[in-house]
Amino acid sequence: MIKVAVIHGPNLGLLGKREPDIYGAITLEELDQRLMHAAKELGLELRITQSDHEGEIVRAIHECIGWADAIVINPAALTHYSISVRDALQAVCIPTIEVHLTNIYAREEFRRISVTAPVTQGQITGLGADGYLLALRAAKSVVEQSHK
Ligand code: DQA
Repeated sequence: MIKVAVIHGPNLGLLGKREPDIYGAITLEELDQRLMHAAKELGLELRITQSDHEGEIVRAIHECIGWADAIVINPAALTHYSISVRDALQAVCIPTIEVHLTNIYAREEFRRISVTAPVTQGQITGLGADGYLLALRAAKSVVEQSHK
């Protein structure tokens, strides 16, 4: 079974309560349930983590070594400045899909830069919770392609 680590960054635990006009009404628990359901259909095993701490996100990425075939990550605000998250993603050499609920390129200027995207396979941005489901499919496909 393909193993995928899903990592949610800072403030995503507040989904549903946090600026619902921007991030939508779905809670993180509901999102994770949707992901678990989709994973079952796709035949993926998931490990889901959320942290508000940069170091915990780095550690969650390190813990993918030896377990995860792919990573789906929404680094949240860390996307825009965390060289340590970028370095961790680069260090573990595991195919990664970056996801954002909102279209970071259509928001404030400081959100239009992703320091992490260049070390990922690709980025899905602006499609809300559906973006995560697409990211799971993309992760599966990237791993399958690498086995061919
Ligand atoms: C986000 C976009 C980031 O700019 C923001 O800091 C977040 C969420 C998104 O999913 O749209 O926390 O990553």
